[in-house]
Amino acid sequence: MGVFSFAAIALPLFLAIFSGAVIACSPSEREALLALSSSLKEPYLGLFDSWQGTDCCSNWYGISCDPTTHRVTDVSLRGESEDPILQKPGHSASGYMTGSINPSICQLDKLTTLIIADWKGITGEIPPCVAALPNLRVLDLIGNSLSGKIPEQIGNLKKLTVLNLADNKLTGEIPSSIVQLSSLKHLDLSNNLLAGEIPANFGNLKMLSRALLSRNQLLGTIPTSIGNMYRLADLDLSMNKLSGQIPAQLGKMKVLATLNLDNNMFSGAIPPAVLGNSGVGILNFSRNSLEGNVPDVFGPKSYYMVLDLSFNNLKGPVPKSLSSAKYVGHLDLSHNHLCGEIPVGTPFDHLESSSFDGNDCLCGNPLKTC
Ligand SMILES: *[C@@H]1O[C@H](CO)[C@@H](O)[C@H](O)[C@H]1NC(C)=O
Repeated sequence: MGVFSFAAIALPLFLAIFSGAVIACSPSEREALLALSSSLKEPYLGLFDSWQGTDCCSNWYGISCDPTTHRVTDVSLRGESEDPILQKPGHSASGYMTGSINPSICQLDKLTTLIIADWKGITGEIPPCVAALPNLRVLDLIGNSLSGKIPEQIGNLKKLTVLNLADNKLTGEIPSSIVQLSSLKHLDLSNNLLAGEIPANFGNLKMLSRALLSRNQLLGTIPTSIGNMYRLADLDLSMNKLSGQIPAQLGKMKVLATLNLDNNMFSGAIPPAVLGNSGVGILNFSRNSLEGNVPDVFGPKSYYMVLDLSFNNLKGPVPKSLSSAKYVGHLDLSHNHLCGEIPVGTPFDHLESSSFDGNDCLCGNPLKTC
């Protein structure tokens, strides 16, 4: 490299670095962040005291930038974390913030991570324009008091892997566009006021491994398309108003490990394949209107940490094959219409009578002898 070309490259770079011109964040992104902080009130920890000076990329609490372009990539403000700033003497390890999320956040168009979580007091709606942040991978707004609807256009976020809006006061329906989130791995909408049905083509979410929709007001049936979600490990639909039959497709899902359908209005018989799905280790169907016999489909591969079928209308005997299961930790068959002799051997020898209480005519250990 000649002296001239070296100087041609090095000199401007040298000047740029020492004048600070390429290091600071863009003035418009700085303005957008300041608008965000001015609409939030965090009275105890002084997190936003660090949001000073021209360079939002250095030492602004919770802000990270791309090292090359100096565009803001992460806004990460968690009210409950291991962060020492939350462990200040005189404060509990959980923060509190009020105010609302300013739509100015949507001007940060290189944003990949938006976390404003566990602040309890943040109200208002999720700015619909977040659905236009093309690079967003993580949207985590858990544990606030957000109201209004989930943005209708949320399905535009093709790179989104985590959508966590749990523990808020969101209303309306799950937007139908949600099924277009082709990269989504983790969906948590638990503990809101969401109504309406689960979108019929929910099973289009091929990458999804956790679908947590519990504690809402959801109606209708479980879409059978759910059987197409071959990565789904954790399905929690508990405490809704879902009805209809439990789809047999759930019995074919290879990596399904947790299946919580408790406290709904499911009816009909339990599909044998579902109880026989040996990958499922936690299953709770308690407090529904399930009928028929408990399928006698357990075997040496069955490994249940929790098997709770209590408070249904199940009849017939306690299935004998349960004693061939590899492990059954917590079993609850109470408050059904079961009848007959409780089989002997494991797991029945370590269970208490509460596992069988409130049935029609069960007998044998741990209940009274037949
Ligand atoms: C199963 O669900 C019921 C109803 O929601 C709940 O009361 C019970 O604690 C759950 N069982 C287990 C073992 O978690």
